[in-house]
Amino acid sequence: MDPFAVLGLDPDADDETIKRAYRQRAKETHPDHGGSVTEFKRVRDAYEAIQAGETDREGDHETGGFADDFGPDVPDPHAPDPEPDTEVTYLNYAVLAERGWSLDDDDLFEKAARASLADRDFGQFTVEGDQSLLEAAEDAGHAWPFACRGGACANCAVAVTEGELSQLVDHILPDELTDEGIRLSCNGKPLTDTLEVVYNLEQRDDLADLKLPADRFNKARADD
Ligand code: FES
Repeated sequence: MDPFAVLGLDPDADDETIKRAYRQRAKETHPDHGGSVTEFKRVRDAYEAIQAGETDREGDHETGGFADDFGPDVPDPHAPDPEPDTEVTYLNYAVLAERGWSLDDDDLFEKAARASLADRDFGQFTVEGDQSLLEAAEDAGHAWPFACRGGACANCAVAVTEGELSQLVDHILPDELTDEGIRLSCNGKPLTDTLEVVYNLEQRDDLADLKLPADRFNKARADD
């Protein structure tokens, strides 16, 4: 679909109007405010396509990206959209503590990629469909920390250093932590095609008071 149409804009809209329309549509479609991951991604992709110049404002739809949707392979517009997959690159917070690295390091993931880390500490997996980040990690064979799986503790906290993770339920994280990009992996769903996250944040001292005893929940699940 034409990215300008996705944002409800004329093709000759100026940059300020485009930005305003994007902010408005992003707010309306954000999953945390009653929208859906698919709709939000469509709006974000439209904005990025316009920013990258991947659209022809003169109406010649021969260019790539969104313009391809006007071709003969255009999908049924009434068919439900599948949730797009997201490629996740993860890093264990314990590695940062051991090596003196910081979440603020601009080259954090580059350093990790060069460090020959074990698979449990650094690697990639895919979040498919409607999965949460934690579900996808577990499907990929990882044992990431959690307790309640209901937005009421910080055991499953991750730091998102690139991309966006929605936060459908969060009864625990204060604003200063969410402003830092900290999210709950048990109900967080990716809003971008790629994500970089540092998991195992429960080891951080400032999250200690926000944690629940995981054993209680693990036992309850084992007794199901
Ligand atoms: S496990 Fe408690 S909020 Fe995710």
